[in-house]
Amino acid sequence: LRKIIIDTDPGQDDAVAILLALSAPETIDVLGITAVAGNVPLPLTSKNARVVCELAGWTDIPVFAGCNAPLKRRLVTAEHVHGKTGLDGADLPDPTMPLQDRHAVDFIIDTLRSEPAKTVTLCPLGPLTNIATAMMRAPDIISRIQEIVLMGGAYFEVGNITPAAEFNIYVDPDAADIVFKSGISLTVMPLDVTHKVLTTPVRIEAFRQMGTPVGQTLAGWIDFFDRFDMEKYGSDGAPLHDPCVIAYLLQPDLFTGRHINVQIETGSDLTLGMTVADWWGVTDHPPNATLMGDVDADGFFDLLTRQIAKL
Ligand code: BDR
Ligand code: CA
Repeated sequence: LRKIIIDTDPGQDDAVAILLALSAPETIDVLGITAVAGNVPLPLTSKNARVVCELAGWTDIPVFAGCNAPLKRRLVTAEHVHGKTGLDGADLPDPTMPLQDRHAVDFIIDTLRSEPAKTVTLCPLGPLTNIATAMMRAPDIISRIQEIVLMGGAYFEVGNITPAAEFNIYVDPDAADIVFKSGISLTVMPLDVTHKVLTTPVRIEAFRQMGTPVGQTLAGWIDFFDRFDMEKYGSDGAPLHDPCVIAYLLQPDLFTGRHINVQIETGSDLTLGMTVADWWGVTDHPPNATLMGDVDADGFFDLLTRQIAKL
């Protein structure tokens, strides 16, 4: 059983990732969900995380609110993709389960200190502000993290929020820099992977056909953010970014990549938040991340459909 903390800014694709994790309690133990400001401001991401838990029937998962702004910069949000609520596309009731009193960063620190060392994996699906803050405030936790599997960055596929940068890294490049320099084993799902798992109409229909509230909701969410991305990329569906992180925990052999050096641009205005990846090994900088480059997209959707049907 793999113990994880999901750090997230829901976001429809974050929501699908959370559902995927909650669908596999025999493999994944979700210790808690920590919300961060990103796609929408913190009051909405911390609410949306609870909306998703309730939809899945997991009302006892503790949800914590974390940082409401990047370390050094003003928050950039993405309502143009996710809608005003961050979860546009389905009408769900306000959550009744409470938000925990403790700050998300304290929860991350306390959990890593109280669980045996190297038994907790962090799964960041948004800007890395909570994770970097925890590392700065309590450096002793760094060596206790088992692994960080995150969605962020881009290399051949380049950026989605600027020509050079992917959204999660761009929003808080200073936090990303801290995490990428932490020395922790990092597994990274960049746009190069996520743009290969496209929500085609046939794949969405499979969720709708389930006839369950979760299947219907998921189809509604995807329909909503599909529109923006299909127009932008001229593709047959939208990339389902964040679920790649959880799919990796469940079926790592769906993904292939390289263990290489990745650095974060924190200075330049032009390329702020760029993940500079030494894919071809042209420097002697030591590897700090396994950057995924390819995915079996049909295998991914088989897994996702199978799992979501269980909820
Ligand atoms: C990332 O940005 C957010 O909009 C998505 O939820 C995903 O985490 C993709 O760049
Ligand atoms: Ca996200």
